[in-house]
Amino acid sequence: MSGEDSLRGKSALVTGGSRRLGAAICRELAARGAGVVVHYRHSEAEAIAMNRVLQHGVFSVRGDLANPQERAWVFREAAEWMGRVDILVNNAARFARDGEIDPARLRAVNVEAPLDLARMLAAQAGGGCVIQMLDARIARPAEGPFRAYAATKHELAESVARLAREWAPGTRVNGVAPGPVLVPEGAREAAGALPLGRRPTPEDVARAVAFLAENESVTGQILFVDGGQHLGKG
Ligand SMILES: NC(=O)c1ccc[n+]([C@@H]2O[C@H](COP(=O)([O-])OP(=O)(O)OC[C@H]3O[C@@H](n4cnc5c(N)ncnc54)[C@H](OP(=O)(O)O)[C@@H]3O)[C@@H](O)[C@H]2O)c1
Repeated sequence: MSGEDSLRGKSALVTGGSRRLGAAICRELAARGAGVVVHYRHSEAEAIAMNRVLQHGVFSVRGDLANPQERAWVFREAAEWMGRVDILVNNAARFARDGEIDPARLRAVNVEAPLDLARMLAAQAGGGCVIQMLDARIARPAEGPFRAYAATKHELAESVARLAREWAPGTRVNGVAPGPVLVPEGAREAAGALPLGRRPTPEDVARAVAFLAENESVTGQILFVDGGQHLGKG
């Protein structure tokens, strides 16, 4: 199956799914037939709007993923609504300059939450598919003003192949590493500096997520959607 039916009958939980890249991922998975649970923390209005846009089989659930109890609640609610969670997209993250956020909290959201939620999915009878949203920064050492953020993505990236091996055959684990798609405040990255000379779009990232969700022979992979940024300067 491909295109519109490829994920029919599957259920997906997308963390931080109400806006920006998360919203594009929700739209893409729903367009391929998946039922989608949109997780949010602050962006309630956007999450409700997303329910209206996606229409069929969509729910939203609120929770602070820095809090282990709320994480468990988010997963339980999603599993109860949909019967189970077939696809987990760990998209929610904090992006901050070093010193702007307590490193323990940064790690709780960017590393502990995705790993915890992934364990919950893998513990279900029949497992499922985990997609970790990473960052093209994992291709180079964590440095510069976003070093602590980059270190969290490195740590999460390092778990992908290990957990893919550990949890096969029931659960597949993959990652998507976007380059500069929607540049957050405070960061600058010129599209012209990318080898392909073109900034990836949220839809490019969402299609990569959908590919990994669909293809049941792929596990332990990290797909860079970064205009070639990870290749470095030629
Ligand atoms: N944007 C890019 O160009 C880019 C580049 C490289 C990698 N990435 C990665 O791709 C993913 C999506 O990027 P993005 O820029 O769209 O993300 P974002 O806007 O920075 O954050 C996505 C969502 O994460 C949620 N979130 C943050 N802290 C949370 C917490 N404690 N509990 C629950 N939810 C929390 C927020 O939900 P609420 O708004 O509901 O509070 C937010 O909307 C992230 O993992 C990011 O690291 C993005």
